[in-house]
Amino acid sequence: MRSTAIRQQLELFEPEDLPLSIMAQPKPFRTQLLKWVGNKQKQADSIIKFFPKQFDTYFEPFLGSGGVLGVLAPEKAVASDIFEPLVQIWQMLHSDKEELKRQYAERYALIVQLGKKAAYAKVLTSYNQEPNGADLLFLCRACYGGVVRFRKNDGFMSTPVGVHDPVSPDSFGIRTDIWHNRTRGTRFLHLDFAAAMNQAKCGDLIYCDPPYSDSQTILYGAQAFSLPRLFDTITSCKARGVYVVLSIDGTKYSGRKLCDIAIPEGLFEREEFVSVGRSMLKRFQMDGKTLEDHEVRDRLLLTF
Ligand SMILES: C[S@@+](CC[C@H](N)C(=O)[O-])C[C@H]1O[C@@H](n2cnc3c(N)ncnc32)[C@H](O)[C@@H]1O
Repeated sequence: MRSTAIRQQLELFEPEDLPLSIMAQPKPFRTQLLKWVGNKQKQADSIIKFFPKQFDTYFEPFLGSGGVLGVLAPEKAVASDIFEPLVQIWQMLHSDKEELKRQYAERYALIVQLGKKAAYAKVLTSYNQEPNGADLLFLCRACYGGVVRFRKNDGFMSTPVGVHDPVSPDSFGIRTDIWHNRTRGTRFLHLDFAAAMNQAKCGDLIYCDPPYSDSQTILYGAQAFSLPRLFDTITSCKARGVYVVLSIDGTKYSGRKLCDIAIPEGLFEREEFVSVGRSMLKRFQMDGKTLEDHEVRDRLLLTF
C-alpha cells in the first residue's frame, strides 16, 4: 500500500501522459509545459474574466510556468522572470523548439539507462555545477511536486526526485508544439519585474503573480523580491494608464494589509475573489492531516 505522503504527491498531478493532440486541445486549456509550484493554469479562466475587454500588449512579469499566459494566448505579449535558467527554457521554445524537445528526451533517456533516481541525481548535479535551462526543464518535470527549491547556504537546488513518472518525450514534444503556438506573439525576457513593467505603455495590461514574501522566499531563488518595490512600480504604471492586476494569496491578506505590509491607499480600485484549489505548499506541510479547511482563497487587486 502506498504511504500517505506518496498518495498526496500523486494527487498533485493530473493524469498527464494521456494521449495529447496538437489539433484537438482540451477546453479549458490545462496542458502544461512545465511543472511549477504556484502554477496558475487552473485558476486562469477565473482570473482572465476580470481582465479589461480590450488592451494592447499583455505583460506577465512573474512568469514561472506561465499558467495565465498559456490560457490567454495573447496576440502580443512580453513575458519575463528573474530566474535565468527558467527564461532560457522559454526562449528555447521559440528560438529552437526541436532542440527543446531533444534536451528533454536526452535527459529522459537516462531514466531507461540508470533508473529514475540515479538519472535525476545526475541531472541535478549537472544543474548545480552550472545552472542551465536544459537541466532545469527535466528537473522541474521530475522533481517532487514541481517545487524547485534552493538551499539557503549554498544556493543549490535541493528538491528530491518525485514519486511520479515524468511525461514521456512524445508527450513533452506535443506540449512543446501546443505551447509554441499559443505563445507565438510573446517575447520572453530575463528581467526583474520593475524593468519589465516599466516597458508597459498606456492601454497595456500587466498581470502580476509575485512570490509571497513569507512562505516562498527560498523557492525560485526569489530573494530579490520586495513587495513595497512592487507597489511603487504598480503606482507608476497606473499613473501612465497601464492596467494592473495583482494576484495575492488570500490567506496572507487581511483588510488593507498584505503580509503585514500596508497596501498604499487608493492604489487599487477594486478586489475580486478567484476560485482556487488547495495550496501545494500547505499540502506538503500538512503531511497526512485533513485538508478540508485549508482551501486557499486567492484574491485579485485591480487598478481599474
Ligand atoms: C508565484 S510564481 C509565478 C507562477 C506563475 N503564475 C505560474 O503560473 O507558474 C513567481 C515567479 O516570480 C519570479 N520572481 C521572483 N522574484 C522576481 C523578481 N524580482 N522579478 C521578476 N520575477 C521574479 C520567480 O522566479 C517565480 O517564477
